[in-house]
Amino acid sequence: MAWKVSVDQDVCIGDAICASLCPDIFEMGDDGKSHVIVDVIEDEELYNCAQEAVEACPVSCISIEEV
Ligand code: F3S
Repeated sequence: MAWKVSVDQDVCIGDAICASLCPDIFEMGDDGKSHVIVDVIEDEELYNCAQEAVEACPVSCISIEEV
């Protein structure tokens, strides 16, 4: 199984909870928005972390799709 994580940059308000929960997936950019630093996730633990970030993001701008 593999997943692709993305952040809708137009909606992200820079809350940064995603980057604190999963620093291996998200990085805060100079633009104050979250950027995904992994292409595809194949590791279940990382996937679970991404799921937590999806639930924690206050503006629900993180999405995960199976690829
Ligand atoms: Fe942006 Fe949500 Fe992360 S607002 S910085 S994607 S927690």
